[in-house]
Amino acid sequence: MSEQTITLITGANKGIGYEIAVGLGALGHTVGVGARSPERLSAAVEKLRAEGVDAFAVPLDVTSDESVTAAASLFSERFGRLDVLVNNAGVTGGMPQTPTTVDPATMRTVVETNVIGVIRVTNAMLPLLRRSAAPRIVNMSSSVGSLTRQSSQSGVEAVGPISAAYSPSKTFLNAVTLQYAKELHDTNILINAACPGYCATDLNGFRGIRTAQQGAAIAIHLATLPDNGPTGSFFEDAGVVPW
Ligand SMILES: NC(=O)c1ccc[n+]([C@@H]2O[C@H](COP(=O)([O-])OP(=O)(O)OC[C@H]3O[C@@H](n4cnc5c(N)ncnc54)[C@H](OP(=O)(O)O)[C@@H]3O)[C@@H](O)[C@H]2O)c1
Repeated sequence: MSEQTITLITGANKGIGYEIAVGLGALGHTVGVGARSPERLSAAVEKLRAEGVDAFAVPLDVTSDESVTAAASLFSERFGRLDVLVNNAGVTGGMPQTPTTVDPATMRTVVETNVIGVIRVTNAMLPLLRRSAAPRIVNMSSSVGSLTRQSSQSGVEAVGPISAAYSPSKTFLNAVTLQYAKELHDTNILINAACPGYCATDLNGFRGIRTAQQGAAIAIHLATLPDNGPTGSFFEDAGVVPW
């Protein structure tokens, strides 16, 4: 097996995903840049290469079975395996988003992308991950998906605006991450959820207080865990996030 580390990051054309590509690229990973828009994909790959990253294009819409199957074939034919999968692509569905008024179509889009998209990509890539000596899966979640923090009435722990689709989609994603960890507990695959903190990206109209680069750090850490690292947990820079 080659010593190259082969990585796929979904939604890597901008924001936190792009910065994860920069960070893992700097650590020597060969980075498959997943993106749904051909124009944004080629621009990101070009920019990453200019920054010295061994990046290549992976056309990938996480909501499309066909697109995800094609992406898995690309890795299979080119490398025969995948070492690191970062499920980063995500949408909010737009704000404000109150439970009493939310459009069911918004619910479907957000869950389709943030939860089912992760399952679709993970399951397509699992046969390739199983061929890796040290497979790692990172699911980009958010502390707004923490029921513990959502139910906190005051103080710094009460996070995020009322959100009918986005926050619950991350809660759903956390629950699914845990189920994967249970099923895969007797394998060498480590799978964890990450919260990047509130970062200035397109997702929130650049209102976040951290940079996308700062947000990328926890995913980079979880993507490069040692073999005895944790699995089935939820982390931010400061440590474990309560479910
Ligand atoms: N920013 C924050 O404060 C924050 C906080 C907590 C968690 N997060 C999570 O971090 C992740 C990255 O968010 P970000 O802040 O970097 O947002 P962003 O700048 O809006 O980037 C989101 C990325 O996901 C891609 N994407 C969306 N739907 C997709 C689909 N169906 N198929 C493939 N790619 C798709 C976007 O592609 P397009 O360019 O084509 O739209 C974009 O590349 C998300 O999962 C988000 O929920 C962010």
